[in-house]
Amino acid sequence: MILLAIESSCDETSASVMAHGRVLSNVIATQLIHGQYGGVVPELASRAHQQHIVVVVAEALTQAGVAKTELSAIAFTRGPGLLGSLLVGASFAKAFALGLGLPLIEVNHMQAHVLAHFIQEPNVPGNVPEKAVPEFPFLCLTVSGGHTQLVRVDTPLNMTVIGQTQDDAVGEAFDKSAKLLGLPYPGGPLIDRHAQRGNPLAYAFPQTDMPGLDFSFSGIKTAIRYFLRDHTRQNPAFVADHLDDICASIQHALVQMLLTKLLKATRETGIRQVAIAGGVSANSGLRTSLLTLGKEQGWQVFIPPFAYCTDNAAMIAMAGTFLYEQGHFTGQDVSPLPRMAL
Ligand code: KG4
Ligand code: ZN
Repeated sequence: MILLAIESSCDETSASVMAHGRVLSNVIATQLIHGQYGGVVPELASRAHQQHIVVVVAEALTQAGVAKTELSAIAFTRGPGLLGSLLVGASFAKAFALGLGLPLIEVNHMQAHVLAHFIQEPNVPGNVPEKAVPEFPFLCLTVSGGHTQLVRVDTPLNMTVIGQTQDDAVGEAFDKSAKLLGLPYPGGPLIDRHAQRGNPLAYAFPQTDMPGLDFSFSGIKTAIRYFLRDHTRQNPAFVADHLDDICASIQHALVQMLLTKLLKATRETGIRQVAIAGGVSANSGLRTSLLTLGKEQGWQVFIPPFAYCTDNAAMIAMAGTFLYEQGHFTGQDVSPLPRMAL
């Protein structure tokens, strides 16, 4: 069974070829154009997807050494995401499947982030043949630019959101903090880089505690705004003088807010298999602190390789593989869903 998967929910155009859960290619075209606007501009994103999609799919097939005629099915991201962006991937997938007479598989982007943990590398010399995967049930903290969710995963296709943000996503908090610091979009990775040279305890930011397992990041964002305003009034060069310490302190506060709820979730559910997923799971502070906490608590911790943290089609192919095995196909009348529950 060989799948072609397409991801186009936000600002990465990606295509992947996967054979029986092994990724043969994972091509990602990142749209740099949004950097000049300080955030993703939806209309520009869909135009860039249009420009990239044919080349990216062709490259994914070439790198995999797979001919179109060898494919068993086409998987694509149905949602959640930006409608104009989703439409490009969905329309391409539908046309390609129709042209080749192949079944179509619709994938939920958030489910795919979680299932990225099951991607296996091809069995070639020098590669580790089998990667350890989480056992069911496990908990997954999915943290991205648009979502912050605590998910209980009972089977590959049966997941329940047990906690989520009530306002901003944590990736948004990273990106907006970076913007306040004058760093370009997307600022999350830049905060991470500066944080590695700074003192995480240099400044304290208030950490909002929501009821249950929910999160809120709008309060800390406002606190950071006022903190910077007040310090810059006293010293106009405050940000430049203390950038590393500010980034380390912001990152520390955001990571603590995430881990506090994760710890609470493990206590409430009794589950000790713990995973992270999504773009913010690339954050070095989160990765290190989770490993430390996991060791203290006796959890088995799963952290995806960097390539499968941020948006990529290999995770869509992995979800597509599980759906294919269970016979979950979709018709040509399917349309994208900007909002799509897990
Ligand atoms: O999953 P993703 O690629 O796209 C969405 O589905 O949103 O996540 C993108 C988010 C952005 O907010 C980006 O700043 C954040 O992930 N991100 C990071 C890091 N790498 C990506 N945030 C903090 N530290 C990082 N190293
Ligand atoms: Zn994503």
